[in-house]
This record gives sequence, C-alpha cells and structure tokens, in this order.
Amino acid sequence: MLVDFRPHSKLSGTSPLDLMTSLAPVVEALRGAATDLGKVRLVCDWVQYKSNFREVVDVRPILLCPELSTGPGPAIVPLGVRDDDIEIAVDVRRSAGVSVEEVAAALRRDGGRVLLEDWGPGSRSCVWEFNARYWKDLDLWEKSTGRGYEQALPGGDSDAHNHDAARDVIRDLFEVWDALADGDALPEELYVVELGVGNGTQAKVFLDEFRALDAAHGRDYYRRLHYMMCDYSQHVLDLAREAVSEHLARISTFALDATTPGTSLGFLKYKVFLVYISNVYDNLPTDEVAQLGGRTYCVQVRAYLDDAGVAGLAESLGVTVGELPALVHKLLRLGPGLLAEADPVRFADVDAAVAFWRAVWDLVRLEERYVPLAGLDLYSLAPGMSGELLRPLLESGADIRMHVNNGAVASFADSLKLLHPFGRLVCHDLFVTDVQAYRTNFRGPGKYEGSVVNWVNGPLLAHVGRRNGFDVHYAPFAHRVGGNIITMTAQVRD
Ligand SMILES: C[S@@+](CC[C@H](N)C(=O)[O-])C[C@H]1O[C@@H](n2cnc3c(N)ncnc32)[C@H](O)[C@@H]1O
Repeated sequence: MLVDFRPHSKLSGTSPLDLMTSLAPVVEALRGAATDLGKVRLVCDWVQYKSNFREVVDVRPILLCPELSTGPGPAIVPLGVRDDDIEIAVDVRRSAGVSVEEVAAALRRDGGRVLLEDWGPGSRSCVWEFNARYWKDLDLWEKSTGRGYEQALPGGDSDAHNHDAARDVIRDLFEVWDALADGDALPEELYVVELGVGNGTQAKVFLDEFRALDAAHGRDYYRRLHYMMCDYSQHVLDLAREAVSEHLARISTFALDATTPGTSLGFLKYKVFLVYISNVYDNLPTDEVAQLGGRTYCVQVRAYLDDAGVAGLAESLGVTVGELPALVHKLLRLGPGLLAEADPVRFADVDAAVAFWRAVWDLVRLEERYVPLAGLDLYSLAPGMSGELLRPLLESGADIRMHVNNGAVASFADSLKLLHPFGRLVCHDLFVTDVQAYRTNFRGPGKYEGSVVNWVNGPLLAHVGRRNGFDVHYAPFAHRVGGNIITMTAQVRD
C-alpha cells in the first residue's frame, strides 16, 4: 500500500494533527474489505475549503486502460511501475471522527447515487454550468444570502480594488507610453482590456486612478483611453457599467467568454497595452491530470447529490429523488427566475427557486476516477495546444496530480495575441508557482458561494507564455501582507 500524506506541515506545530485517529479507521476498514492492499493508494489532503465537492473519505477507481480507443485498434497505454486499483482519498481536516463503518460503507458502495451527469474530464462537468448560472443571476443569489461575492474571495475583497496596486499598473503604462510618445510611436487609441469584471469595482478603481494620475502627469492619456470591460454575464456587465458611470465615454462592454477573447476582440490584435485580469483564471473550467506510478492519467469526474440531504430536498418539492436531476438541469438552463414562471406548482416564487438552487449547490459532490491517457500528445490542453506541454511538469519527480486550467491557458494564449509589442498582461490570482506545491497542498476545487475555485498552474502558464515569446513573472501581491494572491505579469521577451 502506498500512503501519500500531503499536508505534512499539519503534523507538527502547536496543535498537530493526530495521524492515527485520522487514518487508523481507514486502514482498519481496508483490512476488512476484500481489497488487495498492495494495489491501494491512500492519499491524504487538507481540504481548506469549508464548502467543497468531497466526502470525508472518497474512493476513486484507477482504470487500467482508456474506455475508448482514440484510433483504429486497441488503445496503447504505456506501462507503469505500479498498477494500483483504487485510491482512497481522505480529507484529514474532517476525518478525525470518521468511523470504521463509514469508511467500510464508502468502500462497499456500488452506485446508488443521484447522478447529475456521466463521467468526463473536469472541464466538462456541469459544475461549470452552476458557475455560469451564479454569475448570470448574481443579484438573486446575493439577495438571498445577504453577502456579496467579494466576501468569499481570499482576504474578503478583491486585490484588484486596491488603489495602490492600480496606481502601480498605471504608472508602468505611462512609462511605456511616454517613451513611445517621445519617439512618435504611440498610437492615438490606447486600449486596455479587462476580462471578468464582476461588479465593476476593479474598473472603477483603475479609471478613477487613471484620470487623477493623468491630470497630474499632463499628457492627456485619459482622453485617448479605451477601457474594454468583458464578461460572459450580461447582468455583471450591466452592474459594472453602472459602477463606472462617470467614465462612460471611456468604456465599452463586451459579452464574451474569457477563454476566447480573440473571437470578439480580434480587431484589437497587437493593439492592447494592458490585459487586466483579477480572480478570473481560478474561476475558469479545468481538468486535472496525474502521473501515478509512472503512468499518466486524466482525472474524470461526475457530479452527484450528497445522500445526506437528497431525500429531504425531493420531498420538499413533491418530486421523487429520481426526478431531481432533470429539475436541476432545468434550473441550470432557465435560471431561477424563469424556472419559477415555468413551474409555479413547485416554486411559488423566484425566492423559492433560488432556495432550491442554493440547496442543490450545497449538495453537489464530485466522484472521481483515474483514466489512463494513451499519450500526452492525444490530450488537448486548449485549442491548438497538445498535452505534451504538460510533460516537463508531470515528469518532474515523484507522483503528482495537478490542474491543467484549460480555460485559463486558452484565455492566456488568446490574450497574448491582442497585446501591443510593448503591452503587458497583468493578472492577480491564486497561482501555484512551484510544481512541488501540488504534492503538498490541496488546490481545489472549492466552492466560493455559488461559484467554483481552482488555483492556477503557474509553471504551465509560464511555459505556454515562453513558447509564445513572452516572459512570465510571478510575485506576491505587493499591497497586502500575508495573502495568497500572486501577481502574474507577461510581456514580450526582451
Ligand atoms: C470572482 S469575479 C472577479 C471580478 C473582478 N475581476 C474582481 O477581482 O473583483 C469573476 C468574474 O469572472 C467572470 N467570468 C467567469 N467565467 C467567465 C468566462 N468564462 N468568461 C467571461 N467571464 C467569466 C464572472 O462573471 C465574474 O464577473
């Protein structure tokens, strides 16, 4: 049996974790099950998100070959050095009270869950439909909880709202523009693109500071500024537009998917001086891949509803448990407003439909399994990008499981194409900057209110940036002490 205890820092310090109370019931239950202990991986994480997609103990099958061959003939899967059958994943933050019987039940479980979808890579899970629905109907969610989305962000606010940080970014822009203007090379139109605008505070802080700094600087840049606010939620765009009403002559709004900014902003190719992003990459769809025992796997997931609350939820709506998935998908398609109109018998008003939405989200969990990849070259990271880009990270030492952040990689690569040769991309987000951190820390997915959060694979983005001729630099967010936010800067290599 292989035991991978990742949060080893929790084993020391003032109140160290008691390894035995966490793990002994698991080992005891395994002893009683008809499991070949030589083919078990026992993996322990500290899942820091109180609201997440995991049970205290999860059982994940490790498949021997892909289900479908990608070409003619049987799929060829490289040999590994260990062929494990299952992974038992324990959340040691919650496992202290777990009993042998509970673990044994998890090991015995054979179906019987209320599934919301079939197996597939993480980026295609319906949790991303929940995520999109949250941003589309943010006002209804926030009214119901009485909390704004920023309260769920690291530190309780977005670092993009920090005035000093915005001033730093603007001063850097002015420096570049002054030099270009002195050489008579500064275009008349000065474009800034913001992806994922939320309630518009990031844009407002930037534009307020820009106007003030420009007035002091005296080169009339504000008049030439075009600030493009982009988001896939029309509701959020409307909110943001309202927030920057003082700057309406300087802004435009675009309803677009942040993973493909070029589709709507193609006319800005090589013209944008700043692509400005905060807390969006961690909110874009992602797969996870793993290198276990010398073999590469895709982590497949399927969403289901936690047994604990599912019967009560169905009863409260007068439906059977089996009818819940269809109702959930109807909610995701229509949103709570239209759902209440379409089904007044079950939902007396919009508030009742929002209550259903929140209750369901609370119950959503992800089952996982490992499916071998026939070859990294057959795995598509993002449009036009082969999984081969993952090789240096996956083969960086011991077993590893990490995020691919397919949405962020696609967004990043597409955004780079918009940049002026002297432009830059600045992104404040939760980045993993050292591959080794995937071996010691849980990095998602977690739930932030109604949305999904996964840390972003910094080394992978840097690798993609380098391949495109960009330098990618990471630094802790400079204006908050002790936070987790990292600032990524990408610009054309000197
Ligand atoms: C956590 S908020 C961040 C808002 C703001 N940047 C800040 O830091 O305060 C994430 C934003 O990204 C947007 N978003 C998430 N996924 C997106 C996608 N695929 N395309 C466009 N916008 C997206 C959401 O609608 C939301 O406005």
